[in-house]
Amino acid sequence: MIEIARKLTSSSRLPSIDLTNPEFGKDCSDHMFCATYRNGEWTNPEIVPFGDITFSPAMLALHYGQSVFEGMKAFRMQDGRISIFRPHSHLERFNRSLDRMCMPTISEELFFDALIEMLKVDQGWVPTAPGTSLYLRPFCFASEPRLKIKIADQYQFMILMSPAGKYFGKPYRLKVETKYTRTAEGGTGYAKCAGNYGSSFYPVKKAIEEGFDQVLWTDAKEHRYIDEAGMMNIMFMVDGKIITPSLSTAILEGITRDSVLTIARDQEIVVEERRIAVDELESYLREGRVTEAFGTGTAAVVAPVQMIRIGENDYNIPTPNETSFHNKAYVILNDIRKGLAPDIHGWNFII
Ligand code: COI
Repeated sequence: MIEIARKLTSSSRLPSIDLTNPEFGKDCSDHMFCATYRNGEWTNPEIVPFGDITFSPAMLALHYGQSVFEGMKAFRMQDGRISIFRPHSHLERFNRSLDRMCMPTISEELFFDALIEMLKVDQGWVPTAPGTSLYLRPFCFASEPRLKIKIADQYQFMILMSPAGKYFGKPYRLKVETKYTRTAEGGTGYAKCAGNYGSSFYPVKKAIEEGFDQVLWTDAKEHRYIDEAGMMNIMFMVDGKIITPSLSTAILEGITRDSVLTIARDQEIVVEERRIAVDELESYLREGRVTEAFGTGTAAVVAPVQMIRIGENDYNIPTPNETSFHNKAYVILNDIRKGLAPDIHGWNFII
């Protein structure tokens, strides 16, 4: 057990927060976790009141982008306990991202001790209303002040927590993107680094101006194969089978993606993880063989898609109902997290 210093606030903001319908990312809990990497080791782990932090404007993260984050969730179970969903998988992905960005990895002990202590201190912030959770945002950035291009020697590891409801309240209208690129094979697409998100803003902004909600990224080389939908992995139900792009260095390895595919396999639904050409998807859409399209992600959970634009053509996806697989998968996932269904895969880490 790591010794974590605590400086706690005497005036909680919790009474002023509406936990029944929290807006994603708006309010952070009363405290935050901080640790500093210096001389080759993580030091000074502490929990302090949430607030502004002071760093040099020359810090390397701001100039050269060494900044990585995770997105995970804690749930209030029906018996009142708090559980974190698949934190080991999140830590593994965090460390893969950190490694890709030449940043120091985080030990299991530091990660878990920090999360557990944060959740103990701010346990009142875990909402109970249906569809809500406490979004956990571990992140790491290069704090060394230096204008020279170099791999930093100093970093900050922090955890913020924020009550979350629905990320996006309606089914998505997606545009298959064939001009701009999120990332290429060999790039940082599989890492959850800040730059992947910032570089997506411009094409997504253009798509929103055209009346869409998000883009469906295609491969950088030929714009021929589907990659992912920005902050979600994408899945299609075609002829009763789930087809989803196989993982590559250009696609984020979604933990919700894996959970939903596991739920599908548990239900003996055939899952195909493979390359999906835009032409192939278009012929399925034209022939009416796509009965469901949906995104999966920590924030989005399981998010239905209502329309896909390919070139000049708009294809409507049938309206989901309670027999739709993605609706059932959402319910199963939720029931497992709340302790209402058996956790047969050992996904809940109970505090
Ligand atoms: C996720 O869904 O994986 C996130 O962390 C959401 C975030 C990019 C808003």
